[in-house]
Amino acid sequence: MRYRRRGQQDGGKGSDHRKKSGLKQEEKTSWTEPRAANRRPGAMIQGSEAVMFHFGVDYYPEQWPEDRWPIDADLMMRARFTCVRLAEFSWGVLEHAAGTFDFGWLDRAMELLAGRGLKIVMGTPTASPPSWLMQADRSMARVSETGQVVAYGNRRGYCPSHAGYRAHCRRIVTAMADRYGAHPAVIGWQIDNEFGDRCFCASCAAAFRRWLLDRHGTLGELNRRWGTAFWGHLYRSWEDVPLPLASGSAPNPGLALDFRRFVSDLYVEFQREQIDVIRPRSPGRFVTHNFMGFGSDTLDQHLLARDLDFASWDNYPRTQWHLSADVEPAAAALSHDTTRGLKPGGFWVMEQQAGSAGWEIVGVPPRPGELALWAWQAVARGADAVVFFRWRSARFGTEQHWHGLLDHDGSVTRRYEEIAAMGASLTAVAPRVDGTAVSAEAAMLLSFESRFSLQIQQTNPGLEYRRHFAAFHRALHRANITVDVVSPGDDLAGYRLLAAPLFTVVLEDHARRLETFVRGGGTLVLTFGAGIRDKHNAIVDSRPPGRLRELCGLEIDECDSLPPGAKRGLRFLHRRFAAGTGRHPACWCEVLRLTGAEPLAVYTDGHYRGRPAVAMHRLGAGRVIYLGVAAEQPLYDAMVPGLCEMAGVRPVLRTPPGVEAVERRDGERQVLFLLNHGDRPRRVRLGRSRFTDLAGDGRPLHGHVTLPPLGVRVLDRASR
Ligand code: GLA
Ligand code: ZN
Repeated sequence: MRYRRRGQQDGGKGSDHRKKSGLKQEEKTSWTEPRAANRRPGAMIQGSEAVMFHFGVDYYPEQWPEDRWPIDADLMMRARFTCVRLAEFSWGVLEHAAGTFDFGWLDRAMELLAGRGLKIVMGTPTASPPSWLMQADRSMARVSETGQVVAYGNRRGYCPSHAGYRAHCRRIVTAMADRYGAHPAVIGWQIDNEFGDRCFCASCAAAFRRWLLDRHGTLGELNRRWGTAFWGHLYRSWEDVPLPLASGSAPNPGLALDFRRFVSDLYVEFQREQIDVIRPRSPGRFVTHNFMGFGSDTLDQHLLARDLDFASWDNYPRTQWHLSADVEPAAAALSHDTTRGLKPGGFWVMEQQAGSAGWEIVGVPPRPGELALWAWQAVARGADAVVFFRWRSARFGTEQHWHGLLDHDGSVTRRYEEIAAMGASLTAVAPRVDGTAVSAEAAMLLSFESRFSLQIQQTNPGLEYRRHFAAFHRALHRANITVDVVSPGDDLAGYRLLAAPLFTVVLEDHARRLETFVRGGGTLVLTFGAGIRDKHNAIVDSRPPGRLRELCGLEIDECDSLPPGAKRGLRFLHRRFAAGTGRHPACWCEVLRLTGAEPLAVYTDGHYRGRPAVAMHRLGAGRVIYLGVAAEQPLYDAMVPGLCEMAGVRPVLRTPPGVEAVERRDGERQVLFLLNHGDRPRRVRLGRSRFTDLAGDGRPLHGHVTLPPLGVRVLDRASR
C-alpha cells in the first residue's frame, strides 16, 4: 500500500505506465505480504504452482531503452525464470542529488516484471555511490593498503566506517525500503555487493582504536598481548597505534590480526545498519548478501552471515582471471559447501555465470552444456536458487566483456537456449526436490582467524591456507564424500569426520569442542601448524601444538621449512594408507614426539628419518589423526579413503573420474544428482537401488545410467 501511495504522488511516467499497463485498481490495492516465512527461501509459491527454487536473472533495466523491457520480460518467462534481481548498482540513477529521487523507471520496470509473475530481489546500491556524492566529500573515499586514496571511477571505492557515508547509505536504503518494502513482488533484499575491501583511512584508524580499547581495555594489556617490547614499539597513547599499512614486510602479527578482525566487525556493522532499515519496512522478506565463495579471504564470512536469513554467493567457474579451458569441479563445489555452511537452511547463488567472463579480456567461453552443468551443480549441492549474471551483455562500462545470456545487441544466444532448457527440466524436477537438503557426515573446519594469521606470515611459501584446505576438500570431492564446511564455533555433533587443515589460531573454547567431538566418537584430522598461535597471534608459550597437545597425544620436536621443489619420503605403517608410501613434494615437515599417540607414518629421509610424520591418538570413542607433513594433492588423495573408512563415512556413490555424485534428502526422499564434468560419455553403476529419471520419461531405472559429456541426471531413489 505504501508503495502505491508514493508511486501516485510521484506522478510522471510511473503512473502513466500503470495506466497503459491496464492493471486494474483492485489488483493494485489487494497487495498482501508474501506467504513464505523468510527463514526458508525454498518452497516459494508462484501462482498456484509450487516451485522449489527461484531460477532467475540479474537485470539492469536502467541500462536499456524502456521499449525493450517487455521483450526482455517475455524472454525471461520463456526461460521459466521466477525472479529477477534489480537495482544493485543504481544509486546514481535513483538519486540525482541528496534527497532528490527518481524512482519512476524502477517503478515501471517492477510493474512490468511483476505483471508477468516475476518476483523481485532488490539490491541495495551502496557498493557504487554516485559521482556527485563522492566528489562532494573526498574523505568518504576508501584508502588502499599502500595509503592511496582510491580514485572515483570503479566501485567499492567507499570507506565503510565513514559516518557521513553511512548516513547517505541509510537515506537511499530507507527510501527504497519505504517504497518497495511491502511491494507484493518483492521477496527479498541483497545488501550491497561482494563486501571485502579493507580501508586504511583516518576514520578507520579512529574506529580501529575504539575497537581496540573495547577488546583490550588498557593500552598496557594491548602492549603485553602484542608483545610490543619487540623493536621497542611500545604504544604510549592510543593515537600511537598504527594501521597495518604496507611497509614492505609483516607488521606486528597481533596488530595485523586484530585489524582483520576489526574490518570484519566493521562490515557486520555496516551491513546491520541496512538490515535494521529494511526489516521493519519489508516484513516477511529475506535479507542476504552475495559473498564470493571460498576464495574470498579478507573478511570473516561467518560473522557477516549471522545477521542474514541465508548467505548467497557469486559463481564464476571460468573468467579472465582463470583463462584455462579446464574447470575444476571441486573448486565451485568448495564454494557451494562453504556458503551452505555459513548459515543453516540453504543458500542462493545470486550470480551464476552466463557466458564468457572478463573485464579487460574476454574469458574463455563456456562450451555448450557447461553453463547448465555448473548451474545444476549449484542445485545439487544445496542451492535454493540460481540467479544468472547477467541478462544481456553490457554495451557500455567496465563489464562489456562479461557476457550475459543475451548478446550485446539483444539477440537470443545458444547460452540463453541452454538455460531455458534447464528451466524446463527444473520445472519438472522441482516438486521432488523441493524441501530436500544436502546432508553430510564429513565436515571441514574453516577458521578465518587461522587463514588471516597465515596471510600475515605465510611461514613457508607452500603453506597457503587456501591451497591445503582446497586440496583436502578436493580429495573428498573426488571420492564423492559430501562435506559441510563449518566454523570453529559450530555444533559438531552429527559429523563422523572433521578435518581442520592449518588450524593455527586455537582458542580455549575451540579446543574443548574438538575434544568433545573426539571423545564422542568423531575422527578429527589436524595438520601441521595446528595450535601454534594464541588469540593474539603470538606463538604459544608451550610445546606445539599448544592447546591441542593432549588431544593429539604428541608434541612437535622441530619443524623443517623446505625450499621449493624439495621432497620427503614417507612410509605408512598401516595398510589402509599404503598408497601414501613414497616420496612426496613437501614444504614443511614436523618431527613428532609421541606422548600417547601411535605412529601412522614415518619419514624415510632427512635428519629425522625414522621419526613419526603422521600419528593417531585414540581418545574416548574417537581418534585424532595428526598430519605433520605439508605435502601436495597425492598425499591427501592417498589418505582420504582410509580416513573415511576409519570414520565410517561412505561415498554417495562410486563413479568414474570426473563424475560428481551428490544427494539431497528429506527423510525418506532421496534425490541423486549425477554430473559428468568430463568430455567423454560415462557409464555410472547405480547399485541395487531403483531410480526414476526426474527430467526424463519417468520410467524406472536401475543397474546403470550413461551420462553424455557434460551431462546431468537427476534421479529419484525409490524408497525400498
Ligand atoms: C561480481 C559482481 C557483479 C559483476 C560480476 C562481474 O560478482 O557482483 O556485479 O560485477 O562480478 O564482474
Ligand atoms: Zn576508512
